[in-house]
Amino acid sequence: ISVSRGILSRTDRFGGNGYTILTIQNVTEQIKPQGGFWLHVQHDAFYEQHNLSMSSFLVSVSRTVSIDFISSPEVNFFKKITGRFKRNGPSFVFQFLGKEDFEPTTNRTYGSILSNLGFVKTFASKILVPKSYIFPLDDKQYLLPPTSLVQDAHKAGLEVYVSGFANDNDLAYNYSYDPVSEYLSFVDNGDFSVDGVISDFPMTASASIDCFSHIGRNATKQVDFLVISKNGASGDFPGCTNLAYEKAIKDGSDVIDCSVQMSSDGTPFCLSSINLEDSTMVTLSPFMNRATIIPEFSSVDGICTFSLTWPEIKNLTPFFLPSFCAASISNRYQSPYNMFRNPNERNSGKLISLSEFLELAKNSTSLSGVLIRVENTAYLRVKQGLDVVKAVLDTLIEAGYNNGKTASKVIIQSTDSSVLLDFKKQSKYKTVYKIQEFIRDISDYGIEEIKEFANAVVINKDSVFHYSGSFPNGQTNVVERLQKSQLPVYVELFQNEFVSQPYDFFSDATIEINTYISLAGINGIITEFPFTAARYKRNRCMGRKETPPYMEPVKPGALLAYMSPQSLPPAEAPNLIITDADVIEPPLPPVTEKVPTLLPGASTLAPGAPSTNAQAPSGQIRLAISLVLFVFFPFSSTYLISSPLCS
Ligand SMILES: *[C@@H]1O[C@H](CO)[C@@H](O)[C@H](O)[C@H]1NC(C)=O
Ligand SMILES: *[C@@H]1O[C@H](CO)[C@@H](O)[C@H](O)[C@H]1NC(C)=O
Ligand SMILES: *[C@@H]1O[C@H](CO)[C@@H](O)[C@H](O)[C@H]1NC(C)=O
Ligand SMILES: *[C@@H]1O[C@H](CO)[C@@H](O)[C@H](O)[C@H]1NC(C)=O
Repeated sequence: ISVSRGILSRTDRFGGNGYTILTIQNVTEQIKPQGGFWLHVQHDAFYEQHNLSMSSFLVSVSRTVSIDFISSPEVNFFKKITGRFKRNGPSFVFQFLGKEDFEPTTNRTYGSILSNLGFVKTFASKILVPKSYIFPLDDKQYLLPPTSLVQDAHKAGLEVYVSGFANDNDLAYNYSYDPVSEYLSFVDNGDFSVDGVISDFPMTASASIDCFSHIGRNATKQVDFLVISKNGASGDFPGCTNLAYEKAIKDGSDVIDCSVQMSSDGTPFCLSSINLEDSTMVTLSPFMNRATIIPEFSSVDGICTFSLTWPEIKNLTPFFLPSFCAASISNRYQSPYNMFRNPNERNSGKLISLSEFLELAKNSTSLSGVLIRVENTAYLRVKQGLDVVKAVLDTLIEAGYNNGKTASKVIIQSTDSSVLLDFKKQSKYKTVYKIQEFIRDISDYGIEEIKEFANAVVINKDSVFHYSGSFPNGQTNVVERLQKSQLPVYVELFQNEFVSQPYDFFSDATIEINTYISLAGINGIITEFPFTAARYKRNRCMGRKETPPYMEPVKPGALLAYMSPQSLPPAEAPNLIITDADVIEPPLPPVTEKVPTLLPGASTLAPGAPSTNAQAPSGQIRLAISLVLFVFFPFSSTYLISSPLCS
């Protein structure tokens, strides 16, 4: 049963199709319901006032149409129809509305009827309740412990159906925007299971029950690919904190990630952005006066990591942005949805250094590796006298990642080929090249060039499928071509919030993952919600001879086929084609001694005597700047969205 609730995030592109309203006969003849046919009668008493009898209508229609369920929130209605259907006729389902609402025919509240389930059993065999009757919410939208309703109803001989499921609406924070987790909490919680759910997205409900329920954490993997965290489990805890990384490991990530930033005293540490304002409360700290404008990054000022020492940074309070702000730049939904992540943990956890990150990873028996992102290398060398490559190499060796076995667990990622070449020269670590742009193809020379410095490639989600508006309409051959050249392809950025996904994936992160894995065949998923991706590997529907329809990948263009021509979204400009020229970078500039500090209020200088004439030769600066402009695209886009909406 689809309940229209005016959910504004839903597309209006199916509105102009001239679909007609169907009679009950139309539905039987045209749709041929196979599992069963459920008729809901909301307002029997009201129709009766207008001399229209629902019960007579149902009795007459049942002569030609097979009805399996009849539901209503009115007690008298059931009294009228009892005895008018044959023994093997429909099941009667009594619907509970709000606990304080009055049932119109007995003038008792639904809450009071709930305490007398024996009475309900006299006229119905099943009840239909809102989700909150079973899992109440606190005033912050977190789940309270479940009530005993399901057990009580079962004791009274009543089956329990639950309403209110919609992938894009009303999910408690406990579910991390993962609708599969919500269904599982009702059918696979170790204590009870409801007998049915009513959903706006039945595909997700069916898949949850058939493919994901009652699967242990150690169940066999049906499909293999790398689950790589993005800033740890940053969907659940502020990114790059100890808590985000611990959760990422617990949730089944294969690889946890550290985006390395440098403090002014040369300590490498993990943070999503070089601007501390993006993910810490630095603007409310004593270091708020360290803001500077770095024209290479942005025309707006920011507090950069290299303006504070590590002892200063590690005591900063981290924070979550509302998720739409944190969404990838490929997010096609520009409207400011105010979807927050786990607000209870808004400021939880602490930032950790690269060496603490490596300790944490070494401690885990389940991880197969660590991914270390290295960016802004040229800028930091020339302008700040900081050598990220050396700092990362030294820290890895100190942490014991230097023999053949441990070294093979390290993956270095960069958007800058010269950084990867530098690592290749100095170590045995694997390297991954990130192609930042949205691309639709890649030349043979480009691929050959990439093979010189990378063992694998990271591309954006939007480089895997073509799009028409928010709707995928085809597949690029980027994945296939890279894989043909033995380059595994990892794709970012996967998020659970439905506003980060095209409509085709039915607001369900699992359907999106399924499509990228079983249709596009990618080798790794980079995600802020590693639990959802790791759980997908063990879904039991993948191992079957015949995949059930709800575990089939989505076909690009499938939804477009349902739109009338005038509702179709406008065509988009095609994405780029990458060639070798886009991939080759000039070698990294040498490290310059740090210029005496220009940063207001900075208390510590970089180690080494500051020199007054430490400016790099102007040619080098220009080189560095052009590099940074390329490398820094995400930085400036972060600024663009740092609007008041995001704070
Ligand atoms: C319903 O029927 C009764 C009796 O025939 C009549 O008095 C009343 O006006 C009708 N009501 C409506 C809304 O048609
Ligand atoms: C229904 O019950 C409420 C409270 O018990 C009472 O105030 C109201 O008059 C009742 N209405 C009818 C139509 O009996
Ligand atoms: C939901 O999350 C809150 C906050 O973390 C927690 O206190 C509560 O126990 C959780 N509820 C359930 C039913 O797990
Ligand atoms: C590593 O594991 C041990 C034992 O479980 C624990 O005491 C220690 O704190 C862990 N270290 C880190 C960095 O998590």
